[in-house]
Amino acid sequence: MSQQQQDSAKDKPWGGRFSESTDAFVEEFTASILFDQRLYRHDIQGSRAHARMLGKTGLLDTTEVEQILSGLDEIEQSIEKGELKWQISLEDVHMNIEARLTDRIGIAGKKLHTGRSRNDQVATDIRLWLRDQVDGISHELRRLQRALIELAEREANTILPGFTHLQVAQPITFGHHMLAWFEMLQRDFERLQDCRKRINVMPLGAAALAGTTYPIDRLYTAELLGFDYPARNSLDAVSDRDFAIEFTSAAALIMMHLSRFSEELVLWTSAQFDFIRLPDRFCTGSSIMPQKKNPDVPELVRGKSGRVFGHLFALLTLMKGQPLAYNKDNQEDKEPLFDTVDTLLGSLRAFADMMPHVQPKPEKMRKAAMQGFSTATDLADYLVRKGLPFRDAHEVVGKAVALGVETGRDLSEMRLEELQAFSNTITADVFAVLTLEGSVAARNHLGGTAPEQVKRQTVIAREIIQ
Ligand code: ARG
Repeated sequence: MSQQQQDSAKDKPWGGRFSESTDAFVEEFTASILFDQRLYRHDIQGSRAHARMLGKTGLLDTTEVEQILSGLDEIEQSIEKGELKWQISLEDVHMNIEARLTDRIGIAGKKLHTGRSRNDQVATDIRLWLRDQVDGISHELRRLQRALIELAEREANTILPGFTHLQVAQPITFGHHMLAWFEMLQRDFERLQDCRKRINVMPLGAAALAGTTYPIDRLYTAELLGFDYPARNSLDAVSDRDFAIEFTSAAALIMMHLSRFSEELVLWTSAQFDFIRLPDRFCTGSSIMPQKKNPDVPELVRGKSGRVFGHLFALLTLMKGQPLAYNKDNQEDKEPLFDTVDTLLGSLRAFADMMPHVQPKPEKMRKAAMQGFSTATDLADYLVRKGLPFRDAHEVVGKAVALGVETGRDLSEMRLEELQAFSNTITADVFAVLTLEGSVAARNHLGGTAPEQVKRQTVIAREIIQ
């Protein structure tokens, strides 16, 4: 072995027992610095707390703690200014920062790793980072929910067709539709808060896997870092990535919801539906067809949902074969997790920015609701109130609809005598139930589409997101 090779093996923080330097390609292949540098702020946050704990328990003296803390401050600033050069030979964010610290402050820097391993360090970093991301995502979710409540308030009386099988089913109110989306997001929000509880547990102190021989104070470190409690089992602490899977699963559900909203927005902006207008600044044109205005944002969000579903599967697969405790496999948790957060945050942000500017087209929606015999159920319910069994009423209305199809008219456009030919119980008051307004107003119970209920629900929704 050449002198140079020996030096470069010795350069590694773990180089002591090695007699040969790392293969150049293997060094690159095993390094995570190109992506885990993103954790630097949380790595430093964890190190500050660890150093203070070592000071409190007397494992470091006051001067050493001071040196470490100010050294970490300087490193953080130089990273923020883009001055620190990350080195692949130092493998990951943890060793890059530690090496810089030792360059700056000498011996004290070398003592920081006392009672700690990169295994509990990296698990701590990801948890601290993800906790912040969950808070940021929750904020965006709330922003979108607020936009939906505002739309629901404004459009509580606006009528559009509700669909089943994408066929016009019954008239509903636009506000009611917006509040359906609100409910989906509310479950998403609650899922994230629940997941946050399991993120907020501290691995530090587990060291490599078995704990440490030093008299550490884990409760103190946990308190400094705002963790709810230190992990109860060191093996589990370093190997657990359930929280990442849980988070990605919650993220996949949110993306699935956003994808469904997107699908509806795409349909609604099409010439065939033409229910809403999206502001130009959320759309783009075609380079060949001058007339086009494409709903790019919803389409892209719908498309992006796929990558998050993929990340969920990647993480599950990453973990399924791993024996306890830490394995290098775990380094693969970061990119899927990072991309999940970026995709989700971007999609939520685009939606939260866009939704307040969606302009419904009430006349178009109304016309569509008139077209599909959307008040047929109302006529059946009317006949039931007149004494017919529901199945017979269903049959009667079916015949009336057949006449409507044949003559190209809605039920509300038929003459009284025509309707009476199907059932002599029908009287002039039938027209009140055949109107769209009558139809929605009649569904006036908890969870129903009546404007009055929608207004009530928006008040409750506001209370929920307080
Ligand atoms: N870069 C590693 C990761 O992301 C840090 C932990 C490495 N630990 C080890 N014993 N090799 O998981």
